[in-house]
Amino acid sequence: MSATDGHGLARGLTNYGDRDFALYLRRSFALSMGYSRAALARPLVGIANSASGFNNCHRHLPELIEGVRRGVLAAGGLPIDFPTISLGEVFLEPTSMLYRNLMSMDVEEMVRAQPMDAVVLVGGCDKTVPAQLMGAAAAGVPAIQLVAGPMMTGRHEGERLGACTDCRRFWGRYRAGAVSRAQIDSVEGRLATTAGTCAVMGTASTMACLTEALGMSLPGTAAIPAVHADRLRAAEATGEAAVALAHSRLTPERILTSRAFENALRALLAVGGSTNAVIHLTAIAGRVGVRLTLEALNRLSEETPVLVDLKPSGQHYMEDFFAAGGMGTVLRELRGMLHLDCLTVTGGTLGDRLAADEGAWVDRTVIRTATEPYQSVGGLVALFGSLAPEGAILKRSAADARLFETTTRAVVFESLEDLARRIDAPDLDVTPGDALVLKNAGPKGGPGMPEAGYLPIPTKLSRAGVTDMIRISDARMSGTAFGTIVLHVTPEAAVGGPLAIVQTGDTIRLSVKERRLDLLIDDAERARRLEARCRVTRSGEGPGRGYRRLYLDHVLQADAGCDFDFLRQAD
Ligand code: FES
Repeated sequence: MSATDGHGLARGLTNYGDRDFALYLRRSFALSMGYSRAALARPLVGIANSASGFNNCHRHLPELIEGVRRGVLAAGGLPIDFPTISLGEVFLEPTSMLYRNLMSMDVEEMVRAQPMDAVVLVGGCDKTVPAQLMGAAAAGVPAIQLVAGPMMTGRHEGERLGACTDCRRFWGRYRAGAVSRAQIDSVEGRLATTAGTCAVMGTASTMACLTEALGMSLPGTAAIPAVHADRLRAAEATGEAAVALAHSRLTPERILTSRAFENALRALLAVGGSTNAVIHLTAIAGRVGVRLTLEALNRLSEETPVLVDLKPSGQHYMEDFFAAGGMGTVLRELRGMLHLDCLTVTGGTLGDRLAADEGAWVDRTVIRTATEPYQSVGGLVALFGSLAPEGAILKRSAADARLFETTTRAVVFESLEDLARRIDAPDLDVTPGDALVLKNAGPKGGPGMPEAGYLPIPTKLSRAGVTDMIRISDARMSGTAFGTIVLHVTPEAAVGGPLAIVQTGDTIRLSVKERRLDLLIDDAERARRLEARCRVTRSGEGPGRGYRRLYLDHVLQADAGCDFDFLRQAD
């Protein structure tokens, strides 16, 4: 009998070599918590709780979990919550991405090891939903996601503010001298004023939307604001759905098919979603043996329009997206491009769900039709070339199209430390037409592939009115950022990718039309530099110990979702 056989408390018994004794002992200890025998005979629904005092986005999770518990009890189950790692984006050093895989392992092992017939995954902040789905994908237990929901916007001198596109916009203006110290202090207190995830189509909101498109959360739940009463009703409904899943035994690998991931990629492009979602989707897919490629992303990007006018690509915020119709509207507009036979956590198909939503009101200032889209092609493109043999990503929907066909001079920073030291130096040799290049900020070089790809405009240029430049790195960037920024250059510099040999003064050619990113040096010079290059394997004080050592030894590149080699399933 395997660890996941059996039901309720009899599931996955502790191994003493005597199953009856193990069940007797477990029941005895469960009774010590005050549960009745009747309660313990119900389907057990685990609730993975990622609340933490270090996670502002999850501060309302206790209330949400109460809602889930209500739903589970009403449907005849027994809810039992348990803690997991929590990844509060801005509270983690050096970057939350370093710990996504650790959280996924925590979720996978605790869902499998503890006796639950289904699990509700409750989380939202950037890496949390990817980690929970990665973990649940391979745990073999029916799972349903409940996202935290987005924050409401704040106000500053009559202007709406939402984390974190406006965080960056105001900080850029402060650096340029257009906003005073007193004003930036005031803005600081108004950017994030409620519980919930960032208020724009950043990584958290993107992953919430893609989770709904994948079929792993209930219809219509991705965009409900964190503090809206509808989110509590969504929590209750999610608890009820979890009990149904416990009975049906519909496990994630039956929902997370290659066709479902293609639907999710379409949704990502249509919402103008975060570049980080490409990495996260690839990682989730890898846990169930589905391979996502950047070539597929490019193919879909040509066919899939951007439908929503949301920051950072557009003007509106997540609360507007919710009021406008949310993901149901986007999926209905995409219907002709989607695989409607994909199963969802409801037990029905995506097609069933869209038929049920038919006729809902839509605010067309926020969500456009497929025939009159916000942008005619998808928000993301992958670039390939001599500087990025395995690919790089550009969010064209949040970039300056005037820079898309450019041959330019490189201004190189060898590391994040070098960037911090020199970017604002008055004698930095840089012009607005140059490309800023950052090395050694990838999965191993960062380490953890920090969101450092949004290189600041050098102060002397920003004070002269420059607001965008081409920036190229092996780092990621926040899903809330805007600019002509080439990210995820693969292979990264720290493992010997061509990025490692770029020097200040080199010529780089970017062509979005041709999907190319090339370093224009001749072959002899390329060979000479590669020969001379002292191979850097990782930054910091060496391999170290513990989790960081495990991470550095096993993390894969961006084109494999930055997952660990030993966690991916063969495709
Ligand atoms: Fe949590 Fe942005 S900081 S989602």
